[in-house]
Amino acid sequence: MSNPIESSTLWTPEVASSFDPAAEVVIAQGDCLEILQGLPGDFVKLIITSPPYNVGKAYEKATGLNQYLDSLEPVLEQIVRVLSPEGSLCWQVGNYVADGEVFPLDIYFYQRLKAKGLKLRNRIVWYFEHGLHASKRFSGRYETLLWFTKGDTYTFNLDPVRVPSKYPGKTHFKGAKRGQPSGNPLGKNPSDIWRIVVQDWETALWNIPNVKANHPEKTIHPCQFPIELVERCVLALTNEGDWVLDPFSGVGSALLAALKNKRRAFGCEKEEEYIEIAKRRIADLHSGALRYRQLGKPVHQPTGREKVAQIPMEWRNTEAKA
Ligand SMILES: C[S@@+](CC[C@H](N)C(=O)[O-])C[C@H]1O[C@@H](n2cnc3c(N)ncnc32)[C@H](O)[C@@H]1O
Repeated sequence: MSNPIESSTLWTPEVASSFDPAAEVVIAQGDCLEILQGLPGDFVKLIITSPPYNVGKAYEKATGLNQYLDSLEPVLEQIVRVLSPEGSLCWQVGNYVADGEVFPLDIYFYQRLKAKGLKLRNRIVWYFEHGLHASKRFSGRYETLLWFTKGDTYTFNLDPVRVPSKYPGKTHFKGAKRGQPSGNPLGKNPSDIWRIVVQDWETALWNIPNVKANHPEKTIHPCQFPIELVERCVLALTNEGDWVLDPFSGVGSALLAALKNKRRAFGCEKEEEYIEIAKRRIADLHSGALRYRQLGKPVHQPTGREKVAQIPMEWRNTEAKA
C-alpha cells in the first residue's frame, strides 16, 4: 500500500477508535473477528500477536483444545485476508496443558496456518531463564513465535536487528580476503533463539525475560509482550509508515513497539480496562515518560557477590550436618 504520510510526521498520541487509512494509531474495542471483517484486504505489513492460550486467564474461558483451535479459525482466515502480499505474521504461543499433558500450540497452529497458504520462515524460540517451577515435568522455559510470510517476496531488514558478534576480530584465513575481517561491522544475525529481555538486577524481582513482577513495562495485564520482542520483528519485517496489527492487543505492547519505530499501529481488544492502559502508555511514549527495556540491552550476569546469588545460610548448615 502507498504511504501517504511523511514518516517524519508519524506518531501522535491521538488514538482513533476505528480504521482510518490516514491514522497513525487505532485501537478498536470489541471482538477482533468482527473488527477484522470490516477492514480492507492486503494492507497490513506485520501482524504480530499472542492470542488467548485457552488457559483460563482473567480474559478467557478455558475450553477443550479442538474447540479452542476451531474458535480461532475464522480469525486466522481474516488475518490472512488483511495481510499484505509482502507481509508477515508472527504468531506467538506457548503450551496448552490438560490433566498434566502438554500440547504445544505452535504445532497445532502451524498446520492450520500452512493450510491457509502461509509459508513458515522461522520458528523462533523465545527463551527465558525463570518462571514457575514444575514438579512432575521439567520446568517450561520457552515459548515460540512462528514467523510466516504470505508470499515469497517479503520485507526482511537484517541490519537494524543485528546483534554484536562474539568474535568481531575474526579474519578470513585463506583466499583473496585472507587477514581481512570476516564478520559484518554491524554485528551478526540474531538467529532463531531469542534470549530477550532480562531485567536489571537492581530493579527486578527476577532476572526474567517475560513481563512479570517489577519489570519496568509491567501493567495489570497477566501476560504482556515485552516491547523489545515485538521491536525486533517490527524493525526486521516492516518499513517506516507500514501498518502493524495486533488483533489481541491487550495493553498495547505491539502498538508501542510499532509507534516507537514510526510504523502505524492497529489494535483490537475486547476489554476496556486494557485499552485505557494502552492509551495511557501511548501518551507516555509520546511524552517520553514510558518505561520500557531498551532493545538489545545486554543481559545482566550476576557477579556471584549478590545476596540472592549466594547459598543460603540454612542450606550451608544442612550440608555441614549431612
Ligand atoms: C495473550 S493476551 C495479549 C496481550 C498483549 N500481547 C499485550 O502485550 O498486552 C490476549 C488479549 O486478547 C484479548 N482478547 C481475547 N479474545 C478477544 C477477542 N475475541 N477479541 C479481541 N480481544 C480479545 C484479551 O482480553 C487479552 O487482552
